[in-house]
Amino acid sequence: MTEPLPLERREPEPEAPVVPATIGERGPTGRPMPVIPEPKPLATHGHARVIAMCNQKGGVGKTTTTINLGAALAEYGRKVLLVDFDPQGSLSVGLGLNPHEMEHTVYNLLMQPDVTLHDVVVPSGVPGMDLLPSNIDLSAAEVQLVHEVGREQTLMRVLAPAMDDYDVVLIDCQPSLGLLTVNALTASDGVIVPLECEYFALRGVALLKGTIDKVRERLNPRLRIDGVLGTMFDGRTLHSREVMERLVQAWGDTVFHTVIRRTVKFSDSTVAGEPITTYASSSAGAEAYRQLAKEVLSRWPDE
Ligand SMILES: Nc1ncnc2c1ncn2[C@@H]1O[C@H](COP(=O)(O)OP(=O)(O)OP(=O)(O)O)[C@@H](O)[C@H]1O
Ligand SMILES: [Mg+2]
Repeated sequence: MTEPLPLERREPEPEAPVVPATIGERGPTGRPMPVIPEPKPLATHGHARVIAMCNQKGGVGKTTTTINLGAALAEYGRKVLLVDFDPQGSLSVGLGLNPHEMEHTVYNLLMQPDVTLHDVVVPSGVPGMDLLPSNIDLSAAEVQLVHEVGREQTLMRVLAPAMDDYDVVLIDCQPSLGLLTVNALTASDGVIVPLECEYFALRGVALLKGTIDKVRERLNPRLRIDGVLGTMFDGRTLHSREVMERLVQAWGDTVFHTVIRRTVKFSDSTVAGEPITTYASSSAGAEAYRQLAKEVLSRWPDE
């Protein structure tokens, strides 16, 4: 008999730790959980920090993280704007919008100078959180933008009026490193990289990092990686924990201590068209995104 491969999937181990770990205990990242301070209420709003949710791999939790991190930040009193920057329009659908019933979308905002941000923005259903919706129309922008002067700065330009009204802008990227994603990175202060806790998670990450580095060098010197987030973690498998350990080996403290567990509640809440923080407010998934919100805020220089 041969030895099993280090990352081979094994039978669930009931004694494995659950997420979130309590303070001081070793969490799924193998590091002791730190005390993450409660976010302070804000006296004034504005000077939004812009974050791109980015990974060219599909189905890793970008949209789920955008919705639920946004909703958790709104619970902490932050004024949040979500930008659906994926022609699949999953963020918009996940917040209950019908893709066929959108008067204006991000596409109009990018391509039509007479359409303003206020024409496109809609409430998300969560107090304190708005949305710039998209649908399949956005796929045409990728082609049309190629011929524009300053094509990489288009999103940054159209988002500029939002900076005084919001504290956080979260951009949900499509699973590609094309011109739309480069626009998102050019408009952003930070990037959050969601990574599914499975064997192939690290594949393609070097390419993503290379793109981020190029955008920083050539287009946007303020861009930094705010954090790498393990998603769809299954604490019962050694496999998931080994992937987290590898992530920490590769990325160190860039990896968030918060890890998002795998649970069907996320797909259920998408069907319901609302964040898990309202759909199942006391669930472990909702708590994990609140903890992520605290951890994200604690990493920002001016918070
Ligand atoms: N922690 C989780 N546990 C279980 N299911 C999850 C979790 N996070 C996301 N999902 C589900 O996995 C699927 C993919 O998630 P999501 O749409 O957030 O990924 P994505 O990276 O935005 O995908 P795409 O690259 O297609 O835009 C969805 O059906 C979502 O409900
Ligand atoms: Mg998505």
